[in-house]
Amino acid sequence: MTEAALALEAATPDDLAALVSLENRCHTHPWTERGIFEAMAPAGGQGGIVVLRGPWTRGNDERGIRAYCAFQVVAGEAHIHNLAVAPEARRHGLGRRLLALTLEIARHRGARVVHLEVRAGNAAARGLYRAMGFEEAGKRPAYYSSPVEDAILLVLTSYSTSPDLTRNREVTMSEEPGFKERLLKQNEEYRRLYQQHDEYESQLVRFSDKLVLSDEEQVEETTLKKKKLQTKDRMEAIARQARQSHAE
Ligand SMILES: CC(C)(COP(=O)(O)OP(=O)(O)OC[C@H]1O[C@@H](n2cnc3c(N)ncnc32)[C@H](O)[C@@H]1OP(=O)(O)O)[C@@H](O)C(=O)NCCC(=O)NCCS
Repeated sequence: MTEAALALEAATPDDLAALVSLENRCHTHPWTERGIFEAMAPAGGQGGIVVLRGPWTRGNDERGIRAYCAFQVVAGEAHIHNLAVAPEARRHGLGRRLLALTLEIARHRGARVVHLEVRAGNAAARGLYRAMGFEEAGKRPAYYSSPVEDAILLVLTSYSTSPDLTRNREVTMSEEPGFKERLLKQNEEYRRLYQQHDEYESQLVRFSDKLVLSDEEQVEETTLKKKKLQTKDRMEAIARQARQSHAE
């Protein structure tokens, strides 16, 4: 099976038994079926389980799944809860590939920083995370049992380099109470742009509920984000001008 023949998909409840089987083969302390089910649609944040899947034949208990990753995004922070590659598929770059894809999904869902925990003695996982740019941020002594082992806390901070995210932070309107309201009242173009911006925002909401977007949806989402930014840029320019003429 070549890497290219694997597809990235969101796991569904139909995959539950397959994931339980893989989880039992991949971890000494596997998640329970209930734990896996809950990770598919975590409460209080966006996320789920994504899988790399190849073709499979009837009777293949693991439904072609070679690797899976459970993640969650809460308040701009992504948490990788689980990552595993089928034992026979390891050291072919699947762990790295799935983690990179998951980080990309999380970034699109607003993550600016990524956290995870790993057993101190898990050399393979620590090697992978180091290779992906994660840094040690702390230690929970004797956090794991059988065998008792420290948890190493890892963080990926050089993550939010997307122009979308950095530019969003430039929004300054809300820092000036009353200013925006004045502009909305007095400037017709600003008012029109404001409504347009709202419209783009509400159109973007439907993408934020989805774990994985199709190619067409990705293009549509990117286009909407660009238009939204252009609108915001124009609003900022009008606001700058208004501030200047006020100061003169
Ligand atoms: C950790 C795990 C996901 C890695 O998956 P993988 O597909 O074998 O990893 P990759 O082939 O993508 O390797 C990427 C990098 O990780 C590191 N790495 C992977 N396996 C390693 C090993 N056994 N020893 C040391 N480094 C290793 C290397 O830096 C590697 O880059 P390289 O191949 O260029 O040297 C896999 O070993 C696994 O499923 N382990 C059991 C479950 C687990 O422990 N998950 C982590 C929970 S936090």
